[in-house]
Amino acid sequence: MTWKAAILTCLMGTAIVAAGCDWMPGKPTEADKPVIKSTITDFEILWTNQCSGCHGADGRWGPARPLNDPLYLAIAGKEYVTRVITDGVPNSLMPPYAQHQGGSMTDEQIKDVVDGMWEHWSNPDAIKNMTIPEMSGKLGKASRGQGLFTTYCSDCHGKDGNGGKAGSVVDPTFLSLVSDQALRSAVICGRIDLGMPNFAGYSGGHRHSGRSKLAPLKDSQISDIVAWLTSHRVDYPGQPYPNTTTLDVTAEVTASETN
Ligand code: HEC
Ligand code: HEC
Repeated sequence: MTWKAAILTCLMGTAIVAAGCDWMPGKPTEADKPVIKSTITDFEILWTNQCSGCHGADGRWGPARPLNDPLYLAIAGKEYVTRVITDGVPNSLMPPYAQHQGGSMTDEQIKDVVDGMWEHWSNPDAIKNMTIPEMSGKLGKASRGQGLFTTYCSDCHGKDGNGGKAGSVVDPTFLSLVSDQALRSAVICGRIDLGMPNFAGYSGGHRHSGRSKLAPLKDSQISDIVAWLTSHRVDYPGQPYPNTTTLDVTAEVTASETN
C-alpha cells in the first residue's frame, strides 16, 4: 500500500465512524416505511392490507377476534369500532391507525373501512327481539363470576377455566396479552368462527346444547364473569418460577444441573 492509499483508507474509516450506522448498507430509511396511499378508498384493499393479517382474510379465522360477525357489529356499533381503529388498544397487539396517533390511515380511510365492514358483514336482525348487553362495562364481582363460570363456561373451558374441550381462559400469559374489553367481547359475542357461543347461548345460529336450559347472560353477570377471568392476572406473566421465589443467583451451578 502506498502512503497515499494508506491516508485515504484511514480517512474513509473515520468518515464511516463519523456517519455512524446510518451509513450502513441495507438500513431502511424513512422512504422505505410502508405507507398506504391516501387515495386508496377501496374496502377490500384497505382490509387486506391493514387488517386481514390479524382479523383474517374474510374477517374471520385470524389470530384476533372475528369481525365479520353481525351480532358483534350490531352490539358494538360504528362509533365504538371507529374509536378502536383510530386509537388502537393500549398494551395489546391492536395498533392505532389514525395518522395523528402514528398510524397509517387517514380519517377518511378509517371511515371507509368501517363503512365497508358494515356493508359486507352487518345484519341489524342479528339482535332482533334480544335484550342486548352493553358492549363496554365496568368489572363486576369475581366471587359471583366464579359460580356463573361453572354454570355457563366450564362445560368447554374446564372446571377451573384451565381448559377442557376448549383452551384455558385463565392462563396468565393469555391474560397478559388481552384487554378486559377483549374478554368482555368474547363473553358477549363468542367466537362465531370457532364455535364459542354468544351471551344468549347461540353459535352458528343454533342454541348450544349445554346452554339450552340457561337464560341469556345479563349485563351484570357478564361483568362478574369478566371480573373472575381478570382475577387470574399475575404481576409477572410468563415466568417459569413462582413469583414468591427469590432466586439465589450466587448458587453454584453444578455440571449435573446444566445437563
Ligand atoms: C397486529 C394485529 C392486528 C391488526 C393488524 C389489526 N388488529 Fe384489530 N385487534 C387486534 C387484537 C389483538 C385485538 C384485541 C385487543 C384487546 O382488546 O386485547 C384487536 C381488536 C380490534 C377491535 C375491537 C374488538 C373488541 O373486542 O371489541 C376492532 C374493532 C378491531 N380490532 C378492528 C381492526 C381493524 C378494522 C383493523 C384494520 C384497520 C385491525 N383491527 C387491525 C389485532 C390487530
Ligand atoms: C361450547 C363450548 C364453549 C362454551 C360453553 C364457552 N366457550 Fe369460550 N371458547 C370456546 C372455543 C371453541 C373458543 C376458541 C378458542 C379455544 O378453542 O380455546 C373459546 C374462546 C374463548 C375465549 C378467548 C376468546 C378469543 O378471542 O380468543 C374466552 C375469553 C372465552 N372463550 C371465555 C368463555 C367464557 C367466559 C364462557 C362462559 C360464559 C365460555 N367461554 C363458554 C368454546 C366455548
